[in-house]
Amino acid sequence: GTPLPKSDATVTLKVDGFDVTVPEGTSVMRAAMQAGIRIPKLCATDSVEAFGSCRLCLVEIEGRRGTPASCTTPVSQGMSVRTQSDRLHKLRKGVMELYISDHPLDCLTCSANGDCELQDMAGMVGLRDVRYTATDQPLATHHEARTQGRDENFRYIPKDDSNPYFTYDPAKCIVCSRCVRACEEVQGTFALTIEGRGFDSRVSFGGASDSVLSSDCVSCGACVQACPTATLQEKSVAEMGTPDRSVLTTCAYCGVGCSFKAE
Ligand code: FES
Repeated sequence: GTPLPKSDATVTLKVDGFDVTVPEGTSVMRAAMQAGIRIPKLCATDSVEAFGSCRLCLVEIEGRRGTPASCTTPVSQGMSVRTQSDRLHKLRKGVMELYISDHPLDCLTCSANGDCELQDMAGMVGLRDVRYTATDQPLATHHEARTQGRDENFRYIPKDDSNPYFTYDPAKCIVCSRCVRACEEVQGTFALTIEGRGFDSRVSFGGASDSVLSSDCVSCGACVQACPTATLQEKSVAEMGTPDRSVLTTCAYCGVGCSFKAE
């Protein structure tokens, strides 16, 4: 959902006909969750401030034009929200279709298979077909991109496995900014940013060589935990099923010393 506001004042509203009472400042998305209603979402989480970028959580509000994002819309007294309608279904499905049209379709062999929010949301909105075909399929290296005369953009940037604990695969990024916000708001580091605009926008670790290892990243793992796809993935997850690679380790930046076992 979205972070819970700290307020003693409450507001009562209707979500899909159910009365819900929540603290003032609560998002419509969280109010719906309290009523047991799940709204599709990709960029909102409990731990970072709402951003409203994925446009999947659209709702209808009586007396208001358009379809606002439920994660960034605060509740108000007497508000009546609709989370399900043919129009919303069509809009959400259209948004998902655009995401999937620009995403590798290697779900069966992807390390996030079965634990991927993009996959879950595609199912939740009922996506069965993608009318748009990606003309630019991901290429393995910059070299391939250049020799085929294609522009360089995030789809051609190879997976970065320079960090000892996690990998960064720009081809799977949906630019929801959850990692950027987690880095800033959870960890208080500013190692990540969004570069470029529109189709060319991408998450960047900055730094001279733009590699994760050469960036300001402190390997806290907040970004990895926030990522809804396999873009940022723990190496231990990617290596599941390979028992020979099991290691006992104490994470370099953590004071707990739990001796994390990666299997
Ligand atoms: Fe609301 Fe992404 S979850 S816009």
